[in-house]
Amino acid sequence: MRGMTALPDDLRAALDEALDGLGRRDLARAVERLSGRYREGRAATAPILATAGDVAAYAGYRMPATYAAVHAALAEVARAAPGYAPATMADLGGGTGAALWAAQRTWPGLGELAVTEQVPEAIDLGRRLAAASAAPALRGATWRRGTIDPAAPPPAADLVTLSYVLGELPAAERESAVRWLADAAGDEGVVVLVEPGTPDGYERVVAARDTLVGHGLTVLAPCPHDHACPIPRGQDWCHFAARLPRLDAHRQIKEGTLNFEDEKFSYVAASRHPYGRAASRVLRHPLKRKGLVALRECTADEGLADTTVTKRQRELYRAARDARWGDAWPPPGD
Ligand SMILES: C[S@@+](CC[C@H](N)C(=O)[O-])C[C@H]1O[C@@H](n2cnc3c(N)ncnc32)[C@H](O)[C@@H]1O
Repeated sequence: MRGMTALPDDLRAALDEALDGLGRRDLARAVERLSGRYREGRAATAPILATAGDVAAYAGYRMPATYAAVHAALAEVARAAPGYAPATMADLGGGTGAALWAAQRTWPGLGELAVTEQVPEAIDLGRRLAAASAAPALRGATWRRGTIDPAAPPPAADLVTLSYVLGELPAAERESAVRWLADAAGDEGVVVLVEPGTPDGYERVVAARDTLVGHGLTVLAPCPHDHACPIPRGQDWCHFAARLPRLDAHRQIKEGTLNFEDEKFSYVAASRHPYGRAASRVLRHPLKRKGLVALRECTADEGLADTTVTKRQRELYRAARDARWGDAWPPPGD
């Protein structure tokens, strides 16, 4: 987990303005309803974001967190694949556009951004926020009202994202949706799926990962291999955390006192093109003791491994002292 991931200043200002003047009580009620609904984790038979109030509440209390999670996942893709420079992006179930902003920050060269979203009120707010961006690509993003529809031609792009959406799709439709996203990425594009870092979110990500690998893609992150996930089912789950500051409005809506929160997320990024990937991945907070660092790793060939790096290993020990949960290991370039 690396530092704090704050919303870009232009997005934060636009969000504050959009929330300003809305009744805090109504927002808090909408937040309560939405968080209860998301906690249930059931697929949605009707859009969960039903009104403009729901959308404002979502943007205030969830968008900073989904932004931080997607940004963390994309940063790992950029580290694993330094040669990958997407020019176009398709974000499905884009909500108010968190993934767009995260991608634009990761790859400022992204020129064409396209969102597909089923809820018109989310499109309205997402478009309003993006219009306030300093980045021309965000201001010029295309917002299309539509649903994820594997019967339609896939929206071709270099970067295809689905963030916090898989769980809203009926279980029976997830596999075809994931294959469709893989087709949208073509031969050189990258698909990135992000879900809440819960056991259920992880199960959905693992199933999607199997679909992607079965469809001829190779995993770029977080896994250092394309084998079956070595984590024993039901005992643990692969997830990471992104720390984000809580905005004033955010704090009031959530009635919290802490000035930060940790968003737990699970993710997978894959492509037909072998851009590269980590040799291994740190799966827990490293245990740091005097003269040694203990790492829980997912490795390329040996599944899960517990490694101890001692002071005698000098360079590697120095790197291990800096290693964080979620990092590639050893650090790229070593
Ligand atoms: C939890 S929100 C995530 C929004 C955004 N991707 C983010 O990370 O903040 C889920 C979004 O997916 C949209 N969605 C769910 N099912 C969809 C479908 N079948 N087609 C298009 N959008 C869908 C919802 O309307 C909602 O905006």
